[in-house]
Amino acid sequence: MSKVDILFLNNKDMEELGCGDMPSVIHDVERAYILTEQGDVLVPGKCVMRWGSSPEDENTLGRINAMPGYLGGEYNMAGIKWIGSGPMNYKKGLPRASVTVILNDPDTKLPVCVADGTEVSAKRTGASGGVAMKLLSRQDSKVMTICGAGAQGRTQLEAALTVRPGINKVYVYDIRPESSQRFVEESKAKYPNVEFIAVDDPAKAVPESDITVCVTLANEPIVQADWLKKGCLLMNMADYEVTYDCVKKASKIVVDNWDTIKHRMISTVALMWKDGLIKDEDITGQLGQLLLGTKPSRENDDEIIYFNAVGTGILDLAVTTRCYRKALELGKGTTLHYWE
Ligand SMILES: NC(=O)c1ccc[n+]([C@@H]2O[C@H](COP(=O)([O-])OP(=O)(O)OC[C@H]3O[C@@H](n4cnc5c(N)ncnc54)[C@H](O)[C@@H]3O)[C@@H](O)[C@H]2O)c1
Repeated sequence: MSKVDILFLNNKDMEELGCGDMPSVIHDVERAYILTEQGDVLVPGKCVMRWGSSPEDENTLGRINAMPGYLGGEYNMAGIKWIGSGPMNYKKGLPRASVTVILNDPDTKLPVCVADGTEVSAKRTGASGGVAMKLLSRQDSKVMTICGAGAQGRTQLEAALTVRPGINKVYVYDIRPESSQRFVEESKAKYPNVEFIAVDDPAKAVPESDITVCVTLANEPIVQADWLKKGCLLMNMADYEVTYDCVKKASKIVVDNWDTIKHRMISTVALMWKDGLIKDEDITGQLGQLLLGTKPSRENDDEIIYFNAVGTGILDLAVTTRCYRKALELGKGTTLHYWE
């Protein structure tokens, strides 16, 4: 038998390889969306292994999801994202999400790399949000609300300030006030030119916001339709976080990947589809179609746009592949003998 090695990249290696470099991650994510529209990917459905007896239990008892895929183009890599979510981990001082990415050679199908993808996962979700903000928010956006002061809230902020540098006021809402407070203090130090305000009620922030991002564990809506101002972008990045009326009020419904959203069946627009209130043809387009110009992005400063993303594993594969190739070039990481 031939010898086969695997490159192991831990969190430190991945960081040094630029897994968190937001402009590069935005580029990877855009390429993954474009390759999807060009039919140069394989994206089987996400396999969800949840604890408990109902979907609601997932947000307390947790889950581990498997997200396999293949990405063509310059990436030409297969693999899987294996993501654990322990909602109560914060009580042990651990992050909620932990991600392992395995890359497989698309020719031999053998594993070539095992990498920590925890940072990649947070950054690529921020980057997806960033792509949506670039295409769908008003160019002159100044005020933003972030609902959910967790790991994803932080990368949504980073992406927002990358693509919309004119943002100068950010409201932060979290069900745990101490989390919003910590987020605000941290962000003030990181972005001194932006004003950060913690609020105890999203009603005090959303009506003023050009962009509202929801990245919470909520499974009851926290954003109401009559708060949405003309020209705003409402981003539903997790589950049932905004009311059906918010979606009805929007003149465009844009998604990352409609099949994946229907398969996952947790976000507002997916539930509306299940209830027969939204049809496939009501979806304006997927981000890749907007990037290719085959479907419209924002067309004027008045329209309210709803965006929903649930994410696909190929985004993580794109970022991890870039880091893996760089690791090979620089001789970074730890080589493990898989088959001696
Ligand atoms: N769309 C995607 O591609 C994608 C990718 C990764 C994660 N997510 C989702 O994003 C969400 C946040 O992930 P995270 O890693 O930041 O988690 P996290 O645990 O780090 O942060 C979540 C925050 O939401 C807050 N929260 C919980 N319930 C709330 C409520 N009802 N109202 C307001 N705030 C509430 C929590 O207190 C916490 O601070 C999760 O639901 C996750 O599944 C989406």
